[in-house]
Amino acid sequence: MSHRLVIFGANGDLTSRKLMPALARLQQMGKLPSGFSVLGITRDAWGTHRLRETLERHAGDVSLQARNALLSLVEYRRAEATDSSQLVEALKPNREPIIAYLALPPSVFLPTLEALAGASLAEGSRVVIEKPFGEDLASAQALNRLVHQSFPENAVFRIDHFLHLQTVQNVLGLRFANRVFEQLWNRDHVEQVEIVWDESLTLEGRASYYDGVGALKDMIQNHLLQLLCLAGMEAPLALDERTLRDRKIDVLRAVRRLSPEEVERYTVRARYTAGHIGERQVPSYADEEGIDPAHGTETFAQVTLWVDNWRWAGVPFKLRSGKALGRERREIAVHFRPVPHLAFEANDPLPNVVRLLLEPDRLAFGVNLTRPGVLFPLERIELSADFTSQELPAYARLLLQILEGDCTLSIRDDEAEESWRAITPILDAWAQARVPLLEYPAGSDGPTTASQPL
Ligand SMILES: NC(=O)c1ccc[n+]([C@@H]2O[C@H](COP(=O)([O-])OP(=O)(O)OC[C@H]3O[C@@H](n4cnc5c(N)ncnc54)[C@H](OP(=O)(O)O)[C@@H]3O)[C@@H](O)[C@H]2O)c1
Repeated sequence: MSHRLVIFGANGDLTSRKLMPALARLQQMGKLPSGFSVLGITRDAWGTHRLRETLERHAGDVSLQARNALLSLVEYRRAEATDSSQLVEALKPNREPIIAYLALPPSVFLPTLEALAGASLAEGSRVVIEKPFGEDLASAQALNRLVHQSFPENAVFRIDHFLHLQTVQNVLGLRFANRVFEQLWNRDHVEQVEIVWDESLTLEGRASYYDGVGALKDMIQNHLLQLLCLAGMEAPLALDERTLRDRKIDVLRAVRRLSPEEVERYTVRARYTAGHIGERQVPSYADEEGIDPAHGTETFAQVTLWVDNWRWAGVPFKLRSGKALGRERREIAVHFRPVPHLAFEANDPLPNVVRLLLEPDRLAFGVNLTRPGVLFPLERIELSADFTSQELPAYARLLLQILEGDCTLSIRDDEAEESWRAITPILDAWAQARVPLLEYPAGSDGPTTASQPL
């Protein structure tokens, strides 16, 4: 088993805010394997003194002892990740298998994989590729072909850190470890499913990545489609890497490829204009630093999809994600149909909704119950359970699985391609401007058409 983690892009935002703090936490909990070490590849001079500062800032709650212990396991070397001869030099003596973590801009994945192919890595090496995996179906296929030149599929970790959130894993727990929900989890009882990632954040210094990508590719194509898979899949025989991913891909294959007319009718794209989010004044997206308005990038996307199979025929799955919104909402909401007959007078009970809330992670189940006192008045009650006490953040769980060589919760090659296939008709119709780019003020609930019924 490989215990040498080589991080490409070791001075980037992901490494600083997520990977290193996660490693510090794993160190504190004694979960790093013996013999574990980290090699950080950077283009500029970088050293453990910088890492010390980074850990102070982003892992201040981890003990000083654990942070220092991690520092002793890390070294940095300079190399251009896309240059094979520089890589060979940086990886010397290159006798042991490594875990190559590509914490790099997506535009550099392909040339870096080419360089790695030329570096003759030791057998048993693994590769970790951040999202987004490709920018369309053709580029995802090209990446897969290249990856497979150097690594067998079970050594490839295509990352979607959403799969490591406690709530997301509890979609499986709720559905497949309880008799009560799964019986109702189908078209006969479910009216619609919403999968929402609305945030008040704007670009947070990531304009160079985001502009030209947009909400559909950044959030819906990967994270929200993965949630759709878990919410929509059939019961797996086991939770091993093959079975779980087979069940997910069944869902992706069943997602209807929308016709251009359906794209016009069932999708919304928009970007924010100037406004206020709380006290914060936000400029128009088009005026943000590093943005080219001519790219026509959307900061809000909503798509309604159908899973055309026996279980879900006719049930809309509404996937939506937006930036600079007034209300944060991150959840999978399963809306059940109303009761067939209501014996209670003059009441209008809300249909039951199961909400699986993300960050903070929580489960909430809205039920209608009678209140004590007057005869039979109904009251809406929310039964809820908190998952926030999760001891390991998503990136720590993810790293642990990579170290153990368990790719159950990474995206398989065919899944990555099928996710692109599912949204290709939308990308095509949007590229042909069949759906107008609407506007919404920062701090609002998004474009008004997004909340209209289907
Ligand atoms: N940041 C997050 O919260 C987050 C969350 C989820 C996924 N991701 C994914 O993680 C990846 C990295 O994102 P990031 O936010 O960390 O980006 P970033 O802050 O821009 O960092 C990218 C890193 O890659 C390095 N790099 C670029 N080209 C290189 C080359 N040719 N050779 C060697 N190093 C090179 C940069 O080095 P220089 O400083 O020398 O340019 C920098 O260290 C992306 O795929 C992103 O989608 C990020």
